[in-house]
Amino acid sequence: MFEKIAVIGAGTMGHGIAEIVALKGYVVFMCDVSEEILQGAIKKIEWSLRKMVEKGKLSHDDLTSALNRIKTTTNLAEAVKDSELIIEAVPENLELKKEIFSKLDKMTCAETILGTNTSSLPISEIASVTSKPDKVVGIHFFNPPVLMPLVEIVCGDKTSSQTVDRVLTFVKTLDKQAIVCRKDVPGFVVNRILEALIQEAAWIVYRGEASILEVDSAVKYRAKLPMGLFELSDYVGIDVLYSAGKAIQDRDKGVIISPLFEECYKNGWYGKKSGKGFYTYTGDFWEKPKIPPELADKVRLEEIFAPAVNAAAWLLRNKVVEKEELDKAVMLGLNFPEGILQMADKWGIDVIVQVLRSKQSRYGEYYRPDPLLEEMVANNRLGIKTRGGFYEYA
Ligand code: 3HC
Repeated sequence: MFEKIAVIGAGTMGHGIAEIVALKGYVVFMCDVSEEILQGAIKKIEWSLRKMVEKGKLSHDDLTSALNRIKTTTNLAEAVKDSELIIEAVPENLELKKEIFSKLDKMTCAETILGTNTSSLPISEIASVTSKPDKVVGIHFFNPPVLMPLVEIVCGDKTSSQTVDRVLTFVKTLDKQAIVCRKDVPGFVVNRILEALIQEAAWIVYRGEASILEVDSAVKYRAKLPMGLFELSDYVGIDVLYSAGKAIQDRDKGVIISPLFEECYKNGWYGKKSGKGFYTYTGDFWEKPKIPPELADKVRLEEIFAPAVNAAAWLLRNKVVEKEELDKAVMLGLNFPEGILQMADKWGIDVIVQVLRSKQSRYGEYYRPDPLLEEMVANNRLGIKTRGGFYEYA
């Protein structure tokens, strides 16, 4: 559908996006500010493709063809010339993104779609510096893009339905699944839920209610998420999650960053990439912290997950996303074993509301239960136990 695609920024997300796009047969121009960064990115792509060959998921010929389809350049104009789709993945800095979009606007033709992989900055504000805000759209991949099945399509105030349809078709050609975040809300769908979850984990540890290992053990072995929340933070990058969380906090207080998280960020303990985050690392590429399963019962899952359920209820009440899409988002974007609304129905909406009220009385208004949850409790829609909550049960 597109002949040539440009990816601007060759960092963690940029190189992963270029890789998946090239694997699916597109010619991709990857652009960054230095040759050194570009060569580093190519090395990481090669490593990842070789892993897939090792595992029998890719032939050696496909590896070579994919690599041949990736062109690198430090020249933005060269990267975007004749590209029909551009995916920007530069650091999460609104001014930087606006500067780039203003240039892209002048360098591209009227039909070119200008996508941004921002994790939480306002699409409408990025689009405002262009002459074609109807063509500007969020195309949000998840780390690592080559393994994670979801792409979140985010509409700005002026994104046209034609642009969304073209991007949805493109995502299908990558063999990925998409959800559409219909409103340009802080954090969109996935990061709004993820940030509420991760920050709550960090608040719980900061308040001395449980340790990092106890929270991660509960999340990994009882909730059966693929990684503990501190493990995931180190993996994605504490700097990345901090700036996404800060963007949400500054825009509408949809999350409040915990001092524990802030301390890591301020000290440059970004996680795996800096050798230290919540855990320490020796430098192996795919190193995992050791999380003992026997600590899994030390903290209640509802205590950790209640603010994330509250964030999910906020998204539904504000008609940002449909409930099925929301659950699909956490299952495919974060590899949850089931949807967060399904989990809440199991725990009981009344239990979630009790936990939130208790936290609200101790720690403040951030924890006030969303009116949607209050209404569900008032209507006895408590989840599986009353055969109706977010979903109906026979
Ligand atoms: N390419 C190819 N192979 C890779 C790879 C890559 N980029 N990264 C890791 N691998 C390989 C590993 O080297 C390992 O290989 P090995 O078996 O030879 O050692 C293998 O894949 C991983 O196998 P595992 O069985 O250990 O790992 P999992 O089955 O647990 O899968 C995972 C790994 C998919 C990353 C899983 O742990 C997971 O889903 N974690 C959660 C990730 C997540 O939530 N991502 C989203 C974060 S939020 C985000 O990105 C949004 C942003 O805006 C903040």
